[in-house]
Amino acid sequence: MLVTGALKKNLFDAGVECHLTENASHISDGFSFEPPCGIKLMELHHECSIGSFSYGVSGFYSHTDIGRYCSLGESIQCGRGAHPSAWMSTSPFFYCGTDRMFYVGDGFTGASDFATYQSSHPEHPADRNGRTIPNFLKKTIIGNDVWIGHGAFIGQGVTIGDGAVVAGYSVVTKDVPPYAIVGGNPAQIIRYRFNPEQIGRLLDLRWWRFAAWDLKGIDYPRIDRAIEQLTDVVRDASPYTPGFMSIRDLEPPPPVDVEPAKHRKAPPSLAKRLFRIW
Ligand SMILES: CC(C)(COP(=O)(O)OP(=O)(O)OC[C@H]1O[C@@H](n2cnc3c(N)ncnc32)[C@H](O)[C@@H]1OP(=O)(O)O)[C@@H](O)C(=O)NCCC(=O)NCCS
Repeated sequence: MLVTGALKKNLFDAGVECHLTENASHISDGFSFEPPCGIKLMELHHECSIGSFSYGVSGFYSHTDIGRYCSLGESIQCGRGAHPSAWMSTSPFFYCGTDRMFYVGDGFTGASDFATYQSSHPEHPADRNGRTIPNFLKKTIIGNDVWIGHGAFIGQGVTIGDGAVVAGYSVVTKDVPPYAIVGGNPAQIIRYRFNPEQIGRLLDLRWWRFAAWDLKGIDYPRIDRAIEQLTDVVRDASPYTPGFMSIRDLEPPPPVDVEPAKHRKAPPSLAKRLFRIW
């Protein structure tokens, strides 16, 4: 879906901060969100979702579900699809189905063959999905309260557990356990944020079900005290459930022609029309 000023306004009203370039950037039709959240300059492809209180600065996200309270840095590459490495070639020229690979003119050798070329094989999918075969897409999952540093690469199909931290420029190829801090290439566990008992309690509490304003007054820097206070919140407060919304529901209606009559170009005269026919 093309990002227009009207779409950005609808996103803003629905609780999404978006800085994508108007009339140039796109957001996948498969994007859904739970407000409030910030997609800033994130490129979102295929089926992506983001939960309340999460934001991403920039980068490319493919087929990824993002939980609540996530902080995703700049230029992250997440869940990018695979090419078929076991086929004769990994090139999309042999699996991309019906679409043209490059939108180019006809001033080169083979241009007419190129224009009509369609790869064909019984195992081609019926529908193309971007430039990636849907069968090759695996969902990438980013849990709740996950912090991903600048420039990280998150392989497709990876699950990053609740509370985890991914160090800047890491290459994450395997699932990351909850509350682990991982870094490097390939990313390894550096340490855990808390001890096993604390992690167990946080995972049981699932405090991210609650709105930030219901968590006000918690002693955030002192984890044991915070866990005690969270126990009270979980007992007394109601989870925050704004619901997920699809970007399809925010698509503005097509523009109507509001050009004032006096600025409209007059239809050509009969003589001119006849002249054109001749
Ligand atoms: C992961 C991170 C939080 C760790 O910070 P820290 O707790 O201060 O840890 P330290 O710097 O003491 O490093 C601990 C160990 O992790 C290693 N490490 C730190 N960052 C790493 C990285 N990006 N890749 C690989 N290893 C890393 C250190 O070398 C050190 O290893 P050692 O114990 O063998 O000496 C930090 O390095 C990081 O990447 N922050 C992300 C910053 C960012 O992108 N912010 C964006 C804002 S959204």
